[in-house]
Amino acid sequence: MKDEIKIIGLKGIPLIEPGDCLDDIILTALKENNVTLNDGDIILIAQSIVSKSLGLIKDLKDVKPSQKAVDLYNEMLPFMIKHEIPVKNPELIQVILDESKSIIKARQTLIVETKQGFICANAGVDKSNVRGDSKVTLLPEDSDKEAEKIRTNLEKKAQKNVAVIITDSFGRAFRVGAVGVAVGLSGISALLDKRGSVDLYGKELKSTIVAQVDNLASTAQLLMGESNEGIPVVLIRGYKFERKEHESIQKINREKDVDLFRTSTQQLNTIDILKSRRSYKSKFQDKDVDMKHILESIEIARWAPSAHNNQPWRYVIFKRGKFREDLIDQMNQKLREDLTEEGVSDELICNKIQKTRVNFIEAPYLILLCIDNSENLKYDHNEFLMKMQSASASATYLLLAFHTKGLSACWYCAPLFTQEIIRKYLSLPKTFIPIAFFTVGYPTRKQKVPLRKKLNEVLYEVEKN
Ligand SMILES: Cc1cc2nc3c(=O)[nH]c(=O)nc-3n(C[C@H](O)[C@H](O)[C@H](O)COP(=O)(O)O)c2cc1C
Repeated sequence: MKDEIKIIGLKGIPLIEPGDCLDDIILTALKENNVTLNDGDIILIAQSIVSKSLGLIKDLKDVKPSQKAVDLYNEMLPFMIKHEIPVKNPELIQVILDESKSIIKARQTLIVETKQGFICANAGVDKSNVRGDSKVTLLPEDSDKEAEKIRTNLEKKAQKNVAVIITDSFGRAFRVGAVGVAVGLSGISALLDKRGSVDLYGKELKSTIVAQVDNLASTAQLLMGESNEGIPVVLIRGYKFERKEHESIQKINREKDVDLFRTSTQQLNTIDILKSRRSYKSKFQDKDVDMKHILESIEIARWAPSAHNNQPWRYVIFKRGKFREDLIDQMNQKLREDLTEEGVSDELICNKIQKTRVNFIEAPYLILLCIDNSENLKYDHNEFLMKMQSASASATYLLLAFHTKGLSACWYCAPLFTQEIIRKYLSLPKTFIPIAFFTVGYPTRKQKVPLRKKLNEVLYEVEKN
């Protein structure tokens, strides 16, 4: 006998409505496609039609988002914009929360553990393949039960032994693109345990377990497609498997205490955060920034290293308004004088001043960083430099803290040139040296990634073997 597996997509399955009997619809489609059910056939059914037959459709217009959903929306919005991901509104987020046991990660998408124990994006809540823009389908509460119902009915009506797998498509960590996965099954075991068998060279396999139902689901996905292919049921013939009466898809969900990835994604995120922070120099959203985020970020900036641990950084927070505007105008007056003295043209001066006005006045928050030089009154230059270095370390922490909150910011050196004006305007102690401004707000667009020098350009090897 040939080693051959056949995949047959059943054409002509009608649009499914709540209450439809899927086993009858599948048997009719088999007949119309001239396929007779055999013992050992596997029927793979897209979750969307199972959910629709069960009436698991929610209209987002009927959903009232909780404060948690609104907070998550606000937290995720800048990342959704930054990564150009379709924006999920608070209503959709609420439905996802209702379908979830816990949130694993909330950035541009929402990765959750569903009520059924699957880790996936958006709890399987799906806007596609359902009529109406505001409608979504939900995962069946117990897809094994639904698979079992369909399998026993098919077996009774066709007098054949078959297996049924309900499939969905999930994205994966570390790899781009969705693949078919099983979310419910009946008549087949989820895993194929190869441990104890031998490889080509007679070596015993010690740890190989194959997720056979996911492999089958992915195979079926090749015909089901994701868009308008309209083939929600696929038959796989010729795959040899052991029949299993009572099985659960839960076998495929890794137990938390042996799951290495829930913790190590945190490590990956640190690198991701370090590399994806950008200086934001475009227009901010009109949306206000909660002061809590500013304070929490400055709290993080306190943890930077500092020479002698003397933590010389001092921060001043400016809200939007006339007080800030008047200071910027005074600083710009000085800028105009300096540039005129340097012989810069009037037009260029006006452009520059206009740009600074927009940046410094329109940002939801403007933060000033000063060095407190009070322990260095005799002025030791190296001590001063160490303070500058320490304050810069704190500023870097600050920028990263903003970034982790979905806020965008930019470091500006303008205060260095107007120290006396700022000190006087704010009645700061004489020992305070203003060194930087940070504009902070929610972004309206993605920033270009500026070129970075290559590693060998910044690395000078002293020892060469
Ligand atoms: C000490 C310092 C001063 C800066 N001053 C300015 C500034 O006055 N104006 C400005 O547009 N950007 C300023 N920047 C931002 C840099 O232009 C930005 O960090 C650089 O182009 C790299 O881009 P990235 O931060 O997105 O990686 C400053 C950055 C630092 C660290």
